[in-house]
Amino acid sequence: MKIIKASAPGKVFFTGEHAVVHDKLGLATAIGLRTSCEIKEIGTDTPLLKNIGPMIRLREVELNQIFEAVEKAVEEKNFLVFKEMLANDKNVCVKYLIGYMMNKHRINFDSVQIINSSELRKGMSGSASIFSSVVHALSEYYGVNLGKKEISDIAYRGDIIAHGGTPSGIDNSTTTFGGYVKFRKSVGVKQLDIRNKYHIVIGDTLKPASTAEMVTLVREKVNANDKAVLSALSSIDSISQEAVDILKLGDLKTLGKLMDNNQEQLRILGVSSSELENLISVAKRAGALGAKLSGGGGGGCMVALCEDAMDQKKVAEAIKAAGGEPFITDIGAEGVRIEANE
Ligand code: MEV
Repeated sequence: MKIIKASAPGKVFFTGEHAVVHDKLGLATAIGLRTSCEIKEIGTDTPLLKNIGPMIRLREVELNQIFEAVEKAVEEKNFLVFKEMLANDKNVCVKYLIGYMMNKHRINFDSVQIINSSELRKGMSGSASIFSSVVHALSEYYGVNLGKKEISDIAYRGDIIAHGGTPSGIDNSTTTFGGYVKFRKSVGVKQLDIRNKYHIVIGDTLKPASTAEMVTLVREKVNANDKAVLSALSSIDSISQEAVDILKLGDLKTLGKLMDNNQEQLRILGVSSSELENLISVAKRAGALGAKLSGGGGGGCMVALCEDAMDQKKVAEAIKAAGGEPFITDIGAEGVRIEANE
């Protein structure tokens, strides 16, 4: 029985979330926590999927219908359709990606079982990571020759639904390519050669949040020409440009300050929350050099930069004592990869 397993990392932002949606620069890194997608040949002719919730049966006609509906909504920029699709079916993005592979890459989707799993939390790019894993696993299983750029571009299409219409592309780029990346929507992704070792702690507020809602909130303020928001987005662009140079130099204190400045701008955008602010301030009091929310905000995760492994432990303990869940993980992790091919 044939089995293929692919995995992809999650990611955190040093700087630039939300701003990247509006063509500002962002700086992100892949983390040591991953998602995986296993595709296994099974004896029946009904494909099965275990993604969010229980195992479900997949029907070719439904996959085709979803594929066509999403393609039409993308074409017409009808973002409300995605909200409705997600509300009706938590698995719609993965179903769409399977439909995409069937229609665009002629995979003959049949007697397989797909099992997705994740170590990631809200704010760690769990959606894009799963999409990278699924696309890589499907292409490997069905012998479609896809490079990383193509995997990333297809994973991006899943995020069009997950992010409510206008993903920047930094999430799928980081989960696919891995390492450290700088990203501007109009330019694309560039991997950075970073040799210094950085210590971070990620703190999960355990508060659910919707990236699509937060992105929509900021997009509406931009469309309304909100001066404070426009100016905050420009400031984030400058912060990210400086952060790229500083990251290469390994100047921890300045990088921490830039992260703090970025958090001030994120407050102006209106995407922070009391739970995030609480974990950010306890992390700072415990010695973090800088701390900010990471990802869509509203809840989800924050990230703290620490001087060394000892401070990392102190910050993690402080986050735990404040009711959050800390994660100490490596960064600069490898992008999407095949774990098993039997
Ligand atoms: C979410 O991980 C990052 C956002 O900037 C959205 C995006 O880049 O598409 C909030």
